Amino acid sequence: MRKKIVAGNWKMNLSIADGVNLVNEVISKLPSLPEQAHVIFCCPFTHLDRVSSSVNNTGNHQVHLGAQNCNDKASGAFTGEISIAMLKETGVDSVIVGHSERRQLFGEDHDFLKRKTDALVAAGMHVLFCCGEPLAVRESNKQNDYVANQLSESLFHLSAEEMMASITIAYEPIWAIGTGVTASTEQAQEMHAHIRSLLAHQFGEEIAQKISILYGGSCNAANAAELFACKDVDGGLIGGAALKSETFLPIIEAMC
Ligand code: PGA
Repeated sequence: MRKKIVAGNWKMNLSIADGVNLVNEVISKLPSLPEQAHVIFCCPFTHLDRVSSSVNNTGNHQVHLGAQNCNDKASGAFTGEISIAMLKETGVDSVIVGHSERRQLFGEDHDFLKRKTDALVAAGMHVLFCCGEPLAVRESNKQNDYVANQLSESLFHLSAEEMMASITIAYEPIWAIGTGVTASTEQAQEMHAHIRSLLAHQFGEEIAQKISILYGGSCNAANAAELFACKDVDGGLIGGAALKSETFLPIIEAMC
C-alpha cells in the first residue's frame, strides 16, 4: 500500500504564534488517519522549534514536521543557509526539494537539487521532490519530456532502495501554483501515470508502485477529493489552502 500524504507548504507566511495556533487547531480536529496516511507541516525555519513541540505532543507518528529548504553542505561559511543536521535537531523529518519557486526565483539548478537530495537521503530524511512544467511548456504539449528531464537530472541516479525509502514526488504544474487554476483530474492523472511509468522504467514496476506521487497547485477543499481519487494521485502538496485550519482540514479529510 502506498503512503498517502497531505503536506502543507506555508512558504513565507504566518507569524510564529499564528503557525502554532494553526497546527494545534488542525491536530485537535484531526480525523482518524488510515494507517498509511501522513500529514506534514512545512514551516518557515523560525517556526520549526515551536511547531515541533506541538507535533511531538500529539504522540501521533503520522503527523510530521517539514522544512521548505536545506543546504547540501554539513556546515561552514554559507551565510543564510541551513544544514540538514540543524533541521533534524528541531525535529524535522521531511524537506521540500526543487519547488518551482526555488528553481525560478533562487536559481536552483538540477545539480544543486541532486546534491541536496543526496545529502537528505544520506541523513535518512524524507524528500518531497517537486517537479512540474511552466505554462509555455504545457501549451506546446512538451510537459512529459520536461518532467522526465527534471526527474532524470536530479533523482534517477539514486538506487531503487533509496528511492523507496526516502523519496516522495510532488507534481506541481507551475501554471497551477497560487493561480486558482487547478489541473483537471485528467491532466493530473495523465502526468502522474507518466511519472509512474518513468519510475517503472528506471527502477522496476514493483518499486514504482510503492512511491507516492502528490499533486500540488491550487488544490483546495473543493477539488481535493476528486484529485485524490485519481489512481496515481497519492495526496497533495498544499500552499494557500494550508494556511487556515478551515481550508486545510477538509483536504486532510479528503485523503482519509
Ligand atoms: P498553492 O501552492 O496550493 O497555493 O497553489 C502549492 C505549492 O506551491 O506547493
